[in-house]
Amino acid sequence: MTEKREINRLLHGLRGEIPIPGDKSISHRSVMFSALGDTPVHITNFLHAQDCLSTVKCMEALGATVEFLGDAELVVTGHGLHGLKEPATILDAGNSGTTLRLMMGILAPQPFLATFTGDASLHKRPMARVIRPLSMMGAKIAGRDGNRLLPITVLPPEGQLSGMVYDMPVASAQVKSAVLLAGMYAKGDTTVVEPFTSRDHTERMLEAFGVVTEKQGTAVTIHPVRAFAAPPEIEVPGDISSAAYWMVAASILPGSDVLLKHVGVNPTRTGILDVLRDMGANIEVLNRRISGGEPAADIHVCSAKLHGTDFGAEIMPRLIDEIPILAVAAAFAEGTTVIRGAGELRVKETDRLQAVTDEFNKLSPGLVEASEDGMVIHGGRPVRKAEAASYDDHRMAMSLAIFGAAGEGVVLERPDCVRISYPEFYDILGRNA
Ligand code: S3P
Repeated sequence: MTEKREINRLLHGLRGEIPIPGDKSISHRSVMFSALGDTPVHITNFLHAQDCLSTVKCMEALGATVEFLGDAELVVTGHGLHGLKEPATILDAGNSGTTLRLMMGILAPQPFLATFTGDASLHKRPMARVIRPLSMMGAKIAGRDGNRLLPITVLPPEGQLSGMVYDMPVASAQVKSAVLLAGMYAKGDTTVVEPFTSRDHTERMLEAFGVVTEKQGTAVTIHPVRAFAAPPEIEVPGDISSAAYWMVAASILPGSDVLLKHVGVNPTRTGILDVLRDMGANIEVLNRRISGGEPAADIHVCSAKLHGTDFGAEIMPRLIDEIPILAVAAAFAEGTTVIRGAGELRVKETDRLQAVTDEFNKLSPGLVEASEDGMVIHGGRPVRKAEAASYDDHRMAMSLAIFGAAGEGVVLERPDCVRISYPEFYDILGRNA
């Protein structure tokens, strides 16, 4: 475990091609759904990072066979939709909310018991948002502190789960996915209605397994599933949430000109492109194509003079994980940026509104003011080198690293958490030093 990593100011812009690792959300789903099929699925460009490896371990404990052919290439074989077996050990979701929440949806209908644990961060994250709707369908789930927190045990339900219409209080792809996955096994149809549409990777990938969901506005309906046919291959596109660090770095570092290859550009994920363009960024989306049922493209970014902007709740699900790096863009932009409707950031891997405010202000005093559900960022102020903490949150670590590289440097406390989603991050940054 490295306690501190020093990142120096980059003296020139970023140039050339940057390969982008596989999408985290899609990698999780590729393994989970393949483990529910009964024929081998060859998965390529899989994100070989800690979060997705937590999903692999859990699915293996439930009886799936996983064979790695390389870091980013694996074959997953399950025993069918009703072929999961009772795990002999506690399932460890590590740092991964997606692993835990989606798997609760998969396990709620199963005729066996499973208990989950996770790391210190996951133990603090709210799970009632999944336990409550699943319980309304008839699931038996018990969690610490009034069914809110890990450890959590999923017990066999008394009978078959019942479908329902569920009005979600917050937009969340994890909650939506958990309910839809449980809905595959339910009696009758299951509909989830979101305040705003969150990422739709579950719906898209289920289609590749022959399961059609119906979408109407922000509502998605799934019917009870009888046939679940795994595709022979799933190609995972690059993660736009990882590409976001280089989009912002290239925008704010003068003299930059980078090509980010094979990035997922699913419209439920591209809020970062809209906001950066609003700020004056120079971004082109090239070579659009479909990869594994998902839109993908190459993204060309050159440096540009950014200015402040404002955005709120409506776009939030489309850029929820990009707020810390967008805050870096805002710090180096001229003028003020106002972010509203971002209360969900308080329950991510850490409270990201508080973490961004406290840590960014160390690098530029007076830069950020936090509110209950947002931030005001006074861009273009002087920056300095300082020590700043990651809170063991991968997105905080990478955002602070880019802040330091574009500013006067940073000494990053607890930098190793990038292995959650982007193990090669520092190597790529170092290559450009
Ligand atoms: C994810 C959904 C989002 C996102 C997370 C991944 C997913 O979480 O922040 O990193 O894969 O479904 P919420 O559903 O809590 O918004």
